[in-house]
Amino acid sequence: MKNDLKTNLGGRIPKELIQIVPTSFDIIGSKGEAVAIIEIPDELKEYEKIIAEGLMKVHKNVKSVLGKESERYGKLRLRDYHLILGDPNTEVIHKESGCRFKLDPKVTYFSVRESSERERICNQITEPESVLVMFSGVGPFPICIAKHNKGTSCVAIELNTQAHEYCIENIKLNKLEGRVTAIQGDVREICPSLDSKFNRVLTPLPKGAHIFLDITIPTITKGGILHFYHWAPDDDPYSEAFRLVKEAAHQYNRDCEFIKGVRVSKYSPGVSKVRIDVRVH
Ligand SMILES: C[S@@+](CC[C@H](N)C(=O)[O-])C[C@H]1O[C@@H](n2cnc3c(N)ncnc32)[C@H](O)[C@@H]1O
Repeated sequence: MKNDLKTNLGGRIPKELIQIVPTSFDIIGSKGEAVAIIEIPDELKEYEKIIAEGLMKVHKNVKSVLGKESERYGKLRLRDYHLILGDPNTEVIHKESGCRFKLDPKVTYFSVRESSERERICNQITEPESVLVMFSGVGPFPICIAKHNKGTSCVAIELNTQAHEYCIENIKLNKLEGRVTAIQGDVREICPSLDSKFNRVLTPLPKGAHIFLDITIPTITKGGILHFYHWAPDDDPYSEAFRLVKEAAHQYNRDCEFIKGVRVSKYSPGVSKVRIDVRVH
């Protein structure tokens, strides 16, 4: 988010470095209490507390400022952070689209930047459905979907035990008991043991969702929709993703129809996180 942080540093940072003070950072939480996550360039490391103070002055709800220390890594897609300033307890309740998500960004994946993507998915649902969200984290997709679509039920599968615990709390927080079911475990083991099929399945793990397509396809009802996430080159964003889905579906003698592709966010130079919507016949 844009801010007037630079103007709030009150001459405490050398003039020549002011231009590299970050102009964007994430704020997770609510008006009451939030955590800010910022990436401080090496040249500014000795001024990071001053920057954090400035940030907390501009955003009075920020109780802790975390500095990014790594890219996301590993199966759980976590990141290393260090506390620059404020409360070491970084658990917050994030408010979005009429939903509340309790989480600690240090131990679970969560991206405030993906709220519009969650809304786009929610808006596609027009009548009661049964939805499977694989790689569900603290539950933003299933909770948003169930909250805004009466009669729709969701199953959410997540490997990270702490994210799963938060998902259970979030189901209660949003009064969706019985409508969203959270299961902790590896989708590779859980999906084949599910009793029913789903008319909509989401795989929000751009790094590697394709590896799980063999267990994803059988979870989709005839004519159901797959929202498949992938990292793809900007000059040809959807071809590889659709080829992968089509190949996996053919293994089960099922046909696929490409509905549409969406660029969700920029990942790295020339590469974006994309979503393709596919009807699996
Ligand atoms: C990119 S995050 C998305 C989380 C969530 N859907 C969201 O939007 O906030 C991917 C999630 O998949 C989980 N994950 C990775 N491999 C998994 C697996 N084999 N089975 C279940 N969950 C897995 C990670 O722990 C992580 O929380």
